[in-house]
Amino acid sequence: MHTTVPAGLTRKQAELYAKLDPERLPQHIAVIMDGNGRWARRRHLPRIAGHKRGVEAVRDVITLGARIHLQALTLYAFSAENWKRPKTETSFLMALLRTYLKNEVPLMNENNIQLRYIGRIHELPPEVQERMAWATDQTSKNTGMVMTLALNYGARAELIDAFRSILEAAANNGGLEHLTIDEALVSSHMYSKLPDPDLVIRTSGEMRLSNFLLWQLAYTEIYVTQTLWPDFDGTHLLEALADFQRRERRYGNVGAAF
Ligand code: FPP
Repeated sequence: MHTTVPAGLTRKQAELYAKLDPERLPQHIAVIMDGNGRWARRRHLPRIAGHKRGVEAVRDVITLGARIHLQALTLYAFSAENWKRPKTETSFLMALLRTYLKNEVPLMNENNIQLRYIGRIHELPPEVQERMAWATDQTSKNTGMVMTLALNYGARAELIDAFRSILEAAANNGGLEHLTIDEALVSSHMYSKLPDPDLVIRTSGEMRLSNFLLWQLAYTEIYVTQTLWPDFDGTHLLEALADFQRRERRYGNVGAAF
């Protein structure tokens, strides 16, 4: 098998990529970015230092994702439950997000990345929403990888919003009996219309989904690494892809050996 290695990869990344089957790359990867606080604590730094460093990891991972032509990358950046953290930390994260969006749009444009969001965006501070709308607009002509930031996101809230939206559609279309309630209908009322992720990566070793994409992850392969998010980079992403390609996806069927 001869693989053309995309430009811009490090030597180690090129070696890892060359061992992958480009026909079987996941189309959509979701990431639970965890471990910023622990990364900082291990260095006797405040937690926010971990979040700052986490931005660099985001930069490296989206660049690699775009270079290897992933179709979609969804990043869990702020959960609905994260509001329970001290106000100083949530305010810092909101400010970091605004700065991130302002500074990183050129990188997204260089890499042809389309930026989108999922979550209860209307509940975020107005100045954050404004910056988010600006960044989406700035990247709206891009045609490459779709990068979705999950912000003020909770999967149960998404399901509740989907049920509300289905009931509203029913009310406008002559009642529930006129709707076929099936998986396709529920999927079409989720925040994003992307195909379900093929792979979900969680950093820092926790074995939980933490209310992330519960509907969409039904058949998704799960990859948990001990690496803390600020230490995660494009090379780690390629290692996760290699692991993914060693698996056999069965979707409830029996395996090829049977
Ligand atoms: C989890 O680490 C991380 C978060 C709650 C925030 C994620 C934010 C970033 C990766 C940086 C900013 C990203 C963007 C897109 C602006 P944790 O704080 O829960 O770590 P811990 O479990 O070790 O305490």
